[in-house]
Amino acid sequence: MVKVMIIDGGARGHALALAYLNNADVDSVIVSPGNGGIDKNCLDRDGKFSSSLCIDSSVSLKDPSSIIKSARIHKPDLIDVAQDDALASGVVDLLKKEGFRVFGPSRDAARIEWDKEWSREFMARHKIACPEFKAFRIKEEKVKANDYAEDLLQRKGIIFFKAAGLYAGKGVLPASNKEEIASALAELEKMGPASEVFLIEEGLPGEEFSYYAIVDGKNFACFKSSQDNKRVFAGDKGSNTGGMGANAPALVTKDLEKQIEEEIIKPAVNGLASEGMPYIGILYLGGIVCSGSIKVIEFNSRWGDPECHVILPGIKNSYFELVNKAIDGKLNEVKIEEDTLSRVCVVGASAGYPREYKKGKRIKINYADIPTGVYLLSAGIQAVKENLYTNGGRVFSVVADGKNAIDARIRALQGIACCSIEDNGLHYRPDIAWRDVQRLQRE
Ligand code: AMP
Ligand code: GLY
Repeated sequence: MVKVMIIDGGARGHALALAYLNNADVDSVIVSPGNGGIDKNCLDRDGKFSSSLCIDSSVSLKDPSSIIKSARIHKPDLIDVAQDDALASGVVDLLKKEGFRVFGPSRDAARIEWDKEWSREFMARHKIACPEFKAFRIKEEKVKANDYAEDLLQRKGIIFFKAAGLYAGKGVLPASNKEEIASALAELEKMGPASEVFLIEEGLPGEEFSYYAIVDGKNFACFKSSQDNKRVFAGDKGSNTGGMGANAPALVTKDLEKQIEEEIIKPAVNGLASEGMPYIGILYLGGIVCSGSIKVIEFNSRWGDPECHVILPGIKNSYFELVNKAIDGKLNEVKIEEDTLSRVCVVGASAGYPREYKKGKRIKINYADIPTGVYLLSAGIQAVKENLYTNGGRVFSVVADGKNAIDARIRALQGIACCSIEDNGLHYRPDIAWRDVQRLQRE
């Protein structure tokens, strides 16, 4: 029997745990550090306790030694490093040196996410379509950056400032006038090492999507596309968040899959291999469809959260087997089979997120009224005895399936209506998947 360890702290770790446990050979999963909701297993697919899932909260995602220590104690047969800080720390390479079987890109390959300057230059070297951009040093080149920003803004109408390093998903600032350029530069100055180097790039008009490939160094296989809803309020209003919900498949990429795979995924996988850093792991394309052509907003080196919540349950292959094929360089031997259902995930967040919010609020879930097949994944949750309390911005995700996005969304909203956080503390978007819902309503 097999023990899997997943390195992640959010709902993505929970979603992956359920995907691994779908294989009869996997008899236990440890999520490190995980979170209190996973530990209690109170949010499992059927709301039932499963003794095969536990957490190791001693792990810190930015501290490779804590991950190695946890691995030495639990001796898993497979370690899936699923979170960006952990990948950037180089823990994949360190765990491999210790003799563990690991899924996730090396530190060098994960650079495609943790160094946005390198990543854009890589795309340029391999002729992967991306926005016009330039990189600057915050200390020495503010004046030069300001001049470039003003010129680019005049030509493109909207521009984006981006910290080159990881900044908890908050390092991207749009600007559409001179005041916003000045305030973006001032914000970047406060971001510390993440923004020592930053990019200024043209804003691309179009519709965004997320696309994922599992990669074995040279072969790859892709999953259903999805669409994240990143703004905090309905109607895509308010600040960017880690993601307030998602749906899959995303209709915007219908009939564009071949093009995405040929023009973007393939040159990226081949490019990484030819530069001596073969990519083994999940490659995440944040793409945009601009008048029929596809361009890259970003590459990430892991599953998106919440996108994986709506993709993983639709995969008919054993996820454990897929990962093993990828580690062994044998993805050419598999064909990904997915169901034809649509899925919608609605994130339940702490009121005030992504700005100020209070932790420690009691969460209540009325399991009896959650529709059959709808389930919760746990993120910012702390368990004290049998009770659950908020412990983060994104608290949980409600996942539902249906024959299309309309149907799945109705069920997800019925599910989240069974949840509450004390003091009116639950915030969620009722319009997740709105683009596809509108498309379907027009049909
Ligand atoms: P990121 O943190 O890189 O995912 O960026 C956050 C969001 O900013 C993206 O989801 C896009 O909505 C937007 N964005 C970033 N770069 C661009 C760009 N060059 N053109 C248009 N939108 C962008
Ligand atoms: N949902 C966006 C991300 O995981 O980066």
